[in-house]
Amino acid sequence: MPSFNLLLLPGDGIGPEVMKEVEKVIAWLNINTDLKFETEYDLVGGSAYDNHGKAISNEAMKLAHGSDAVIFGAVGGPKWDSVPFDVRPEAGLLRLRKELDLFANLRPAICYKALADASSLKRELVEGLDILILRELTGGVYFGEPKEIIDLGNGQKKAIDTQVYHTHEIERIARVAFELAKTRKGKVTSTEKRNVMISGVFWNQVVTHIHKTEYPEMELEHILADACAMQLVREPKQFDLIVADNLFGDILSDEAAMLTGSMGMLPSASLGSLDEGTKKRNAMYEPVHGSAPDISGKGIANPIAEIASFAMALRYSFNRPLEADLIESSISSALDRNIRTPDIMQDGMEKIGTSAMADAIIEEMNSRIN
Ligand code: IPM
Ligand code: MG
Repeated sequence: MPSFNLLLLPGDGIGPEVMKEVEKVIAWLNINTDLKFETEYDLVGGSAYDNHGKAISNEAMKLAHGSDAVIFGAVGGPKWDSVPFDVRPEAGLLRLRKELDLFANLRPAICYKALADASSLKRELVEGLDILILRELTGGVYFGEPKEIIDLGNGQKKAIDTQVYHTHEIERIARVAFELAKTRKGKVTSTEKRNVMISGVFWNQVVTHIHKTEYPEMELEHILADACAMQLVREPKQFDLIVADNLFGDILSDEAAMLTGSMGMLPSASLGSLDEGTKKRNAMYEPVHGSAPDISGKGIANPIAEIASFAMALRYSFNRPLEADLIESSISSALDRNIRTPDIMQDGMEKIGTSAMADAIIEEMNSRIN
């Protein structure tokens, strides 16, 4: 019986609410398939700060290292707006990404048929949209040093963030891009600001080199990040896979997410390299949406992004594409029942809450095995 160990980190805001729903899906798989998931829990973000003054504890990091996958909720909220920068809730998330070396962040933006009218773009522009934003997640301006505010002593200060990339960091994300492109349309769009940033010139050179020397049969196109942002709303279906650095990937993935109707729909997977010895890779799965403090505690958050993130875990960590498909198609048919959480509410639909949406997805899963 394949047995796996999950670390659940619900975090703050709506994180715990959507995590509760993914636990139902995990329990369902334990009962209805040969998979066996053991779950452990810990704190991250503001809830960890309140408990022990840090955004994630060393003990939780140890559990993360030992797990087969981390399932993450969300962190942050106005309550922690004034805590010191190095222990702010987001620092817990960034520590997980950095120390687990989760350099490849896959953010699919898929427009479910039932939701094409919920997009801010016209139906014909987004219907059938299926693009993947591949974001480099452990480098760039998020982690570059120096990163500080310096007092110049003359009543002035200066602030510095550092955008830095090494050859190997760009090479490994480029390889992931081309490998993923093989399973899609064979085309990679690489984006940077080579007209302004020297790290953009370098990004472009390294991606081009990997293409020429290792993947000449694939198609590679380069686009400036600002033009990419513009084309994403003008004609999103021209893209299949966009690879970007940490900061541009952050921005473009929010934009792509919104094309599909709601941030509440989109999952993500953050993957490390494959360990040739153990044949395992570190991995964390999290919804693209944040902690949404404005709606937390009301039972109205959309659980789909968290549940779809778990489906990605089945695909990328546990090699169980059939169960991943089962969850994804159950999400799609739950939406076909015309039920909606408030974030994707449309005229004529029935408005429901967080757990009712998850229950509907589970009913759909049941109907597929009976
Ligand atoms: C994301 C989020 C994070 C990021 C925040 C919460 C630090 O926006 O995962 O996209 O900027 O990476
Ligand atoms: Mg973001």
